This record gives sequence, structure tokens and C-alpha cells, in this order.
Amino acid sequence: MKIISIANQKGGVAKTTTASTMAAGLKRRGYKVLAVDLDAQGNLTTNLGAETEDRATTYDLMKGAASAEEAIQHLSIDLIPADLALASADMEFCQTGREYKLSRALETIKEQYDYVILDTPPTLGIMTTNAFFASDEIIIPACGYDGVKGIINLYNLVRTVQEYGNKKLKIAGILMTRYNPRTNMEQGIRELAASIAQQIDVPLYKTYIRTSVIVEEAKANLTDIFSYNDKNNVAKDYDQFIDEYLKGDKK
Ligand SMILES: Nc1ncnc2c1ncn2[C@@H]1O[C@H](COP(=O)(O)OP(=O)(O)OP(=O)(O)O)[C@@H](O)[C@H]1O
Ligand SMILES: [Mg+2]
Repeated sequence: MKIISIANQKGGVAKTTTASTMAAGLKRRGYKVLAVDLDAQGNLTTNLGAETEDRATTYDLMKGAASAEEAIQHLSIDLIPADLALASADMEFCQTGREYKLSRALETIKEQYDYVILDTPPTLGIMTTNAFFASDEIIIPACGYDGVKGIINLYNLVRTVQEYGNKKLKIAGILMTRYNPRTNMEQGIRELAASIAQQIDVPLYKTYIRTSVIVEEAKANLTDIFSYNDKNNVAKDYDQFIDEYLKGDKK
């Protein structure tokens, strides 16, 4: 089982879109995939039409009140949902070992999945830290100057996590999202991403994800982009990205 965090503390850079689309794309390739929502906003959860009322969530997993198995819902992809209860996580989980709660909870389903995709919130708080302690790899979706500049802060957290407990953690690469190659400004942003990638010695994926209303349409239909319409540009881009990712993946 390989665990991948989709992370960038900048909001709105397509973390959740990348998490659900990557999970769906890997599933279409025959892999067993689980997605886990670690964000109190619960966007991945609502986008895929999961229930949270009277159902076990990531919060229950963190509390030790439910097992991963109990919390999984079988939708267009398998998902452990999240809701607002997670908003108190930074204050609530403050005892020793707080960084390992997710990692421990996922131990029990190790044999059942090839990939676990973690959708993280737009902060570098306890949930993202738990994600990094549990993960083998991080994929960083980025768009806009702020989304690219913030990669340095994320990199510093990765270094700390590597130093204090998860030596195997690595950044698999940076993925440009919501990208329009036709404008000079966007090209400038990509050049900045390339220079930061070089500085921290991680790949910038050749594939970038274009912009399309299909992303919103898939959400409105409570499903992932591939299940909604696999012929559109965003589905094609993510498909190509997954191929590029798998080429560099020595599982
Ligand atoms: N390729 C795309 N084309 C058009 N819109 C997109 C694309 N990718 C994402 N979006 C839209 O951008 C917004 C942010 O995307 P998403 O929710 O995936 O980002 P996020 O990084 O998870 O945000 P947050 O930090 O709030 O969790 C959403 O409204 C989504 O529909
Ligand atoms: Mg999100």
C-alpha cells in the first residue's frame, strides 16, 4: 500500500479535485484505491455525495472511536468522509503521539488497498502533519503566485517530519493546476514553480491541468470527473498526469 498526501497550504489550488480525480484514475487502471478526507470543510466528502450524519468519519478515526474499515463508504471511489467536527482537531489532539493517529488508524487496512489518497486542508496544522507522518509521498498541486511561493513553507514541514519520525516521506512532484498556458502571466508562474522545484530538488510534472467548467459540473453530479465525462480536457490532463506519476513510481 502506498499512501499519497495531496497538499498545499494555499486554499483553492485544486487539492480536492486532484485527490478525487487521481483516486478515480488509479481505480480505472485496476488499482484498489481509498480516498480519505482530512479537511473539516468536507469538500471531498460532499463532492462525492458521501453521508456524514450518524456515520463514522475521519474525526472518529482520530479519536479512536471507529476503525478505518467502519468508516469507509463505497461511492464512485471508496472514501472515508470528514465533517466540521475536525475543525477542533488542532486544539483537541494535543497529547503525545498526536502526529501518528492517522498512520495508526490506516494500519488495519494495509492489505486491502494499493493506494490511499489523503486530501489535506489548506493549513499546515495537525491534520496535514498527520497526513505527512502517514504518507510515503506528497503531490503538491499549485496555481497562482501564492500557491507556488507557499511550496517553500510546505517543504520546511516535510523536512521536519522526515527528521522527527517519517524518514521515507518524499515529495513526488509539483503539479500545475487550473493552468492556462496561453497567458504570459501563467507562464511566469510556471517558471517560478520550475525554479522552486529545482531549489528543493523535486520534479515539476510536465503535464499541467487545464481549466474547465467540467470540474464544477462533476461536483454538481456528486461524482468524480472520470465517471462524469472522461472525454473532456481536464479528464485527459489528469489521465496523462497519472501516467507520468506512475512512470516515476517505484511501488
Ligand atoms: N482544472 C480546473 N478547472 C476549473 N476549475 C477548477 C479546476 N480545478 C479546480 N477547480 C475549481 O477550483 C476550486 C478549488 O478547487 P479545490 O476545491 O479542488 O481546491 P482545494 O485546494 O481543495 O481548496 P481548499 O484549499 O479550499 O481545500 C473549486 O471550485 C474547483 O471546482
Ligand atoms: Mg480541498
